[in-house]
Amino acid sequence: MLQTDRGPRSSMSAAAAGDSAPRRILALALAVALALWPSPARAGFSCSPGARPVVFNFGDSNSDTGGMAAAKGWHIAPPEGRAFFHHPTGRFCDGRLVIDFLCESLNISYLSPYLKAIGSNYSNGVNFAISGSTTLPRDALFVLHGQVQEFFFFKARSLELINQGQEAPIDAEAFLNALYIIDIGQNDINALLSNLPYDQVVAKLPPILAEIKYAVQLLYGNGSRNFWIHGTGALGCLPQKLSIPRKNDSDLDQNGCLSTYNRAAVAFNTALGSLCDQLNVELKNATVVYTDLFAIKF
Ligand SMILES: *[C@@H]1O[C@H](CO)[C@@H](O)[C@H](O)[C@H]1NC(C)=O
Ligand SMILES: *[C@@H]1O[C@H](CO)[C@@H](O)[C@H](O)[C@H]1NC(C)=O
Ligand SMILES: *[C@@H]1O[C@H](CO)[C@@H](O)[C@H](O)[C@H]1NC(C)=O
Ligand SMILES: *[C@@H]1O[C@H](CO)[C@@H](O)[C@H](O)[C@H]1NC(C)=O
Ligand SMILES: *[C@@H]1O[C@H](CO)[C@@H](O)[C@H](O)[C@H]1NC(C)=O
Repeated sequence: MLQTDRGPRSSMSAAAAGDSAPRRILALALAVALALWPSPARAGFSCSPGARPVVFNFGDSNSDTGGMAAAKGWHIAPPEGRAFFHHPTGRFCDGRLVIDFLCESLNISYLSPYLKAIGSNYSNGVNFAISGSTTLPRDALFVLHGQVQEFFFFKARSLELINQGQEAPIDAEAFLNALYIIDIGQNDINALLSNLPYDQVVAKLPPILAEIKYAVQLLYGNGSRNFWIHGTGALGCLPQKLSIPRKNDSDLDQNGCLSTYNRAAVAFNTALGSLCDQLNVELKNATVVYTDLFAIKF
C-alpha cells in the first residue's frame, strides 16, 4: 500500500509542524495539557501529589520520534533535525513535533520510541508511532492495531516484573492515569486519494474511523482512561502533494493548496470529532478529547 511519509525526503513535508509554528503548537499543547493534567475533578482521574505525567503515543510520522529509524536501522542524514536538535533524531522533521511540545509543556523528557534499543527511557511513557503507519489493513506491520498490541505487551511485561518484585518504569497507577494519544489516518486518506475520486474516498472513511474507535475501546477495556485524539492535517498543502505533476491547476484553492485533499481531510476530521463525542458518552469515567489539527496546520 502506498504510504505518504515513508522516506526522509517525502516525510520532511508530511511530518508535523516542525518549528515553523512553535508558539501556536505550544499553545495548543499547553491548552490540552491543562485540560487533561492535572484535573482531579474529572471522573476517573486522580493525580497523586508528586506523580509525574506519563504519555503513550500511537501514530505515524506526525508523531514518530525515531521509531521507524530504529525499526529499520535507518541512518537518516542531515539536514533532518537542523532546526532544533541540530542532528538527525529519527524524526521526519527539521525541528520538534507536536508530541515534543506536549512533553515540554508537561516538563517531561521527549518520548522514547518503543523499538529504540539504546538510550531509551520509558519512565515518562512510550512512543509507539511509526512513520508511514496506517489504520488498515489491520494485519500490516506497525498499523494502529499493532501499535496497541505492542502497548499491551509493554504493559503486561511491566506489571509482571513489578509483581515479581523487580523494577519497571511504569506501574499500574501510572498506566491508569496516563494520557493516551492517537494521531493517525493521514496515510490511509492519502492512499485512498491516490486511487479514487473524492466521493469514493469519503465512502471509505468509516472503516478507518472504526479502527481508531476499536483501538480506543481496546485500550479502555484494558484500563486506559484519558485519550487525546488528533485530527489529520492539511494534506492538500503538503509540498509533497503539490509537487506531484497535475494536468492543470483547477483543484488549487486561493492559498495554493489542493482542495480535494483538504476536503477529504476535513471530512475525516468531522467524522473523527463526532466519534470522539460518541466515545465520551459511551466510555464511563473516560475523557476523550478531540483536537482539530487541520485548523492549526492550514
Ligand atoms: C521541570 O523539571 C525541572 C527538573 O526536574 C525542575 O527543576 C523544574 O522546576 C520543573 N518545572 C516545572 C514548571 O515544573
Ligand atoms: C529516566 O527518566 C527519569 C525521569 O526523567 C529520570 O528520573 C531517570 O533518572 C532516567 N533514567 C535513566 C536511566 O536515565
Ligand atoms: C484488552 O486487550 C486485549 C488484547 O488486545 C483484548 O483481547 C481484550 O479484548 C481487551 N479487553 C477489553 C475488555 O477490551
Ligand atoms: C483540469 O483537470 C481535471 C482533471 O484533473 C479535469 O476534470 C478538468 O476538466 C480540467 N480542467 C481544464 C480547464 O482543463
Ligand atoms: C467509574 O468510577 C467510579 C468511581 O471511582 C467507580 O466506582 C466505577 O467502577 C467506575 N466505572 C468504570 C466503568 O470504570
